[in-house]
Amino acid sequence: MTSKRRYVVVGTGHRVQMYLDAMAGDHGDVAELVGLIEPNPGRLAVHLAWLSEAGLDVEGVFTGHPDTLERILSEIHADRMIITSPDFTHAELIVRALDAGVDVVVEKPLTINPESTRQITEAVMRTGRQVVVTHNYRYSPRNSALKEVIKNGSIGTPLSVTFEWVLDTAHGADYFRRWHRDKANSGGLLIHKASHHFDLVNWWLSDSPEQVYARGGVRFYGADNAAARGMAPHPERGTHEGVHGPWELDLRDDPRLQALYLDNESYDGYHRDLDVFGPGVTTEDNLAVIVDYARGATLSYSLNAHSPWEGYRVAVNGDEGRAELDVVERAAVLTDANGRFVVDPSASVGESSSRTGGERLTLQRHWEAAQDVKIEEGAGAHGGGDALLLADIFRGPEDDWLDRPADWLDGIRAIAVGMAGNESLRTGLPIKINDLNLGVDLSRSARPVS
Ligand SMILES: NC(=O)c1ccc[n+]([C@@H]2O[C@H](COP(=O)([O-])OP(=O)(O)OC[C@H]3O[C@@H](n4cnc5c(N)ncnc54)[C@H](O)[C@@H]3O)[C@@H](O)[C@H]2O)c1
Repeated sequence: MTSKRRYVVVGTGHRVQMYLDAMAGDHGDVAELVGLIEPNPGRLAVHLAWLSEAGLDVEGVFTGHPDTLERILSEIHADRMIITSPDFTHAELIVRALDAGVDVVVEKPLTINPESTRQITEAVMRTGRQVVVTHNYRYSPRNSALKEVIKNGSIGTPLSVTFEWVLDTAHGADYFRRWHRDKANSGGLLIHKASHHFDLVNWWLSDSPEQVYARGGVRFYGADNAAARGMAPHPERGTHEGVHGPWELDLRDDPRLQALYLDNESYDGYHRDLDVFGPGVTTEDNLAVIVDYARGATLSYSLNAHSPWEGYRVAVNGDEGRAELDVVERAAVLTDANGRFVVDPSASVGESSSRTGGERLTLQRHWEAAQDVKIEEGAGAHGGGDALLLADIFRGPEDDWLDRPADWLDGIRAIAVGMAGNESLRTGLPIKINDLNLGVDLSRSARPVS
């Protein structure tokens, strides 16, 4: 008999690595990988080989296609299923796992539209099983530090929040090279990316969003914008011979991307390196959102996906003072002679003449001078945030004064803002979250709406 929980993982692309590393490493004493499910057999084989190199015995790991999920789950007696597949596949996989008697850990976003949210809600109610959404940004020490400042009452009752997030021309552009570029696959950046940010605000304020007004559009990327700016046509893909421009990603420049994606295109035709100025871009790249919260606070939020630097600025105005969090994740995107750039730069800081990387949390109470609040960093990725998240997922969650573990209701609250925002973009009107008919009353409890 073993006391280890048995895990099956679905979707073996980029994001899965964090979970597989955890099970092959620090959390291997409590978590056993028993299954890997993935439609692309080549990509699945790459991860199996890497797991083996990391010292995990993969002989007994069951592998298969998502079509056979129920059979696999019953054969391997999984306790939990971790979902790291594209956003539009989450809901169906969650419902199937819950109905098969297996709890779920799912990457953000929980799902991408009201209909599939209702299906998840019904499945949770029907089965009584657990769905955990891994909102990792809560665990980043700087975001936790702001939560602490608000929760300990330093600024009094929060009345309003301003929040600006800028994605740079490396990381931001990457959303326009693959499945995220089609809004049908991800719900657009209001869901795919901003669900991180809306979850932070919901959690910082310990409140529920009620009404959303959004404006924005596809203003920078895509073929129409390139043509309107008179740009010369780019090659369809970044992986090609000859000279490369700074917008292009050549998968051969990164052995990991080559092994996972380029070498396995024959199975599914998944191109990871499409031209960001090519046809088929429907995901908005400039967004502005106003959100009313149940207890009266207002959020003013904006997202830009083609900024020369990457980071965010948040200010929370309370009735006793103000807290400000300023973060420069990367001060500039610079190119070398070959036009190379970093694909997943979320934790790195570049060079810049006038902008410095780093983070600063400032607290200023009424009638007092401003003071810096110390941000306690841990070891590892995202200032130790990933390690804390993984410990909660695999060993916890522990009682947490900061309420960091996120359940399915938090997952719905996070995407509810984006779903209402998308409806507002479509109609031009402010949208009440209750009118999305999500099947659950987010402002009060997890009871189904009768
Ligand atoms: N929390 C974070 O910071 C963070 C960061 C990156 C990605 N993510 C999330 O992780 C998920 C995966 O993103 P990614 O960048 O790894 O994408 P990816 O495209 O690199 O990998 C997705 C994998 O899922 C497979 N897949 C496709 N359809 C499937 C299906 N129906 N069932 C099972 N597998 C299927 C693909 O073949 C691929 O191997 C997304 O939901 C994304 O939003 C979260």
